Amino acid sequence: MTGPGGSAQLLEKLSAIESDSLLGLIAMADADTRPDKIDVGVGVYRDGAGRTPILRAIKAAEQRLWDEQQTKAYLGGAGDRRYTELLRPIVLGRHAEDERILGLHTPGGCGALSLGFKLIAAARPQARVLVGTPTWPNHIPVIGAARLEVSRYGYYDRDQRVIRFDEMMQRLDGARRGDVVLLHGCCHNPTGADLDDDQWADVVRTVAHRGLLPFVDIAYQGLGRGLDEDARGLHRLLDACDEVIVAHSCDKNFGLYRDRVGSLWIKTGDPGQSRIAMDHVLQIAREMWSMPPDHGAAAVRIVLDDQTLTADWKVELGEMRDRIARVRKQIAAADPRLAYIGEQYGMFSMLPLEIDQVRKLRTDHAIYMADSGRFNILGMADHALDRFIAAVIGSIDG
Ligand code: LMR
Repeated sequence: MTGPGGSAQLLEKLSAIESDSLLGLIAMADADTRPDKIDVGVGVYRDGAGRTPILRAIKAAEQRLWDEQQTKAYLGGAGDRRYTELLRPIVLGRHAEDERILGLHTPGGCGALSLGFKLIAAARPQARVLVGTPTWPNHIPVIGAARLEVSRYGYYDRDQRVIRFDEMMQRLDGARRGDVVLLHGCCHNPTGADLDDDQWADVVRTVAHRGLLPFVDIAYQGLGRGLDEDARGLHRLLDACDEVIVAHSCDKNFGLYRDRVGSLWIKTGDPGQSRIAMDHVLQIAREMWSMPPDHGAAAVRIVLDDQTLTADWKVELGEMRDRIARVRKQIAAADPRLAYIGEQYGMFSMLPLEIDQVRKLRTDHAIYMADSGRFNILGMADHALDRFIAAVIGSIDG
């Protein structure tokens, strides 16, 4: 495997791949120099002026970190333990005191998903993961990287704009004991179509009855109906199931995107067994990134350790949530064909557009959204909203 000059020739065997569609979209929108471009691609909050501000509480925490942090010495594989401890009541609610649930700090929600699926692969390599589609584009590669089989079912009917709940329940009913069900905790990405209370009740009952392992991805807590309300489905699963895995993210609700702040939570039927599971998780983390980055979690820790900063964070989180609801209503009111957007939650919804219409919006109007028609409700400044809505309606009309 050496070339004529003796140099290695391994990498030349690699064939080209498509980059993750969302990452490709960021690059494409960045490269567009038209001053009025609208980037509703990737899931980043923008305020009425089109900015993604650093939250006041985070700025204050970072200032404190700058003033007071004495060392950059290693924290260890579990990362910032105080951060995880302070997150417990937020993520777990009434289950915060349950000693069978252990958590650790991870690089973003994505790191938590990777660890969780690799743990499942270590425990039960033949487990299948039931995934409703469409789903966040990176779910499938992350599960694939853990070498687990993915079993897809249709979650959302794009034409009718409703959850295909019967199909979902049929698939859960037919799953094998020990199969894993990936569930979006709230603010379903990419559809915005969340399970309602009755649907959660049915899902929880079936998951528990069939002996399935629920894996909840909750990356938008507080951006749907409220911090507690958004975790209601998760808490019901914790009521009913001995084994639950949760991937949580603070990237969105603390506006810390690039700092990658997440956590993984494992519940088993016994505190000792949960510690064993966590030892496996730590070993897997050691192989992947050894220790998570500190900065973002340290900022969250400082916020949550201070009542005034926590209260201010909740105010800003509420403002973000209100803005999502307001913009949703505005889009919904523009055309009956968009009315469903007002009934959904979180940063995303899907527009009834085919891929060529999506691409035409890019070329003709400098509007960037995912090929699937997923768009970020908050991707644009207030002044751009009318132009966005007009372009979308024009595109639907053909
Ligand atoms: C999104 O769905 O836009 C975000 O979760 C960003 C990402 O990493 O894909």
